[in-house]
Amino acid sequence: MVSALPRVLVLNGPNLGRLGVREPEIYGHLSMSDLKVSAATWGAELGLDVEVRQTDGESEIVGWLHEAVDAEAHVVLNPAAFTHYSYALRDAAAQVTTAGLLLVEVHLSNPAARESFRHYSVVAGIATGTVAGFGFDSYRLALSAIAARLAA
Ligand code: DQA
Repeated sequence: MVSALPRVLVLNGPNLGRLGVREPEIYGHLSMSDLKVSAATWGAELGLDVEVRQTDGESEIVGWLHEAVDAEAHVVLNPAAFTHYSYALRDAAAQVTTAGLLLVEVHLSNPAARESFRHYSVVAGIATGTVAGFGFDSYRLALSAIAARLAA
């Protein structure tokens, strides 16, 4: 059966498949599998059809952003390190918002409070908005912002 709920792709970039193992003092102890379970619960609560994906590949995440445009899916995007230098990802993300879809940039940590190379986001300027610094809750807040905007 085709879902009538608004679709949201939750896209995660490089090294986020290592959540739970990677620098837990910064990124916490929960894993990408845990995020998938939580996101399904949040989606059900918010009336969104949520799908979580992760890749270490720039071309794959660019392809998923193209897919979001073609499928008219909104996007929650944690570009991970691509945030800071990938113009290819930025240009793909821009196509999402230019198409009138919502794209929320999320970060588990607060990059502005970390090393200077993390202070600049190439994505922020084309995103609908950004949520950073709340751990897994950053994703819940992003989904909730999308649900609220769609209901407005
Ligand atoms: C991150 C922050 C980025 O600077 C970093 O490269 C990541 C994770 C975050 O969620 O806090 O991989 O996007």
